[in-house]
Amino acid sequence: AVTPKIAPSMLSSDFANLATEAQRMLDFGADWLHMDIMDGHFVPNLTIGAPVIESLRKHTKAYLDCHLMVTNPLDYVEPLAKAGASGFTFHVETAKNDWKELIQRIKSHGMRPGISLKPGTPIEEVFPLVEAENPVEMVLVMTVEPGFGGQKFMPEMMDKVRILRKKYPSLDIEVDGGLGPSTIEVAASAGANCIVAGSSVFGAPEPAQVISMLRNSVEK
Ligand code: DX5
Ligand code: ZN
Repeated sequence: AVTPKIAPSMLSSDFANLATEAQRMLDFGADWLHMDIMDGHFVPNLTIGAPVIESLRKHTKAYLDCHLMVTNPLDYVEPLAKAGASGFTFHVETAKNDWKELIQRIKSHGMRPGISLKPGTPIEEVFPLVEAENPVEMVLVMTVEPGFGGQKFMPEMMDKVRILRKKYPSLDIEVDGGLGPSTIEVAASAGANCIVAGSSVFGAPEPAQVISMLRNSVEK
């Protein structure tokens, strides 16, 4: 059976106090820390890369769930592994021919591979990666256009989650974008078990309450 993982998106944190912000989220009950890596090319925003992951790793043992919104994910495998990344989720739109090599390299570098897809990408595109001899271990269904926090959840993406959950009962299915107390029910009942939440957690007066509410919704 799948277990809930609540992953605050550090994109909504104060980057100038990243270690403190990370520890605060773990103290509030977070399972993973979601790290949004953007290259200003695959998406119209630029965030952090391996040097920042390396710095954060010196302050925490937490699972660093890295979401690669970059045009050339292969270039990031070795630097991120050295930096201490735990999960490495790349976008199916960026890996048309080399995904087998990518998965193999992610695993051989000791990280857990995941595949993500943009709202406009059909769910069928990730099936081969989940069913491969050497498969990805998580599918991240984007519920907003990647690039920025604080956008509105797209409920029509739940069809993708339902299809995945029916086909793959024990797969980790992550949702990312616009998740919070008002959208978690629909995502959890569709079958998502890994929940990324940025603005709803960091913007709350009591983030611990939001984290436990998200967890309870997935558990029931
Ligand atoms: C968007 C990122 C998300 C983002 C989510 O491209 O992948 O992880 O930080 O932020 P919220 O939860 O505010 O939509
Ligand atoms: Zn993300």
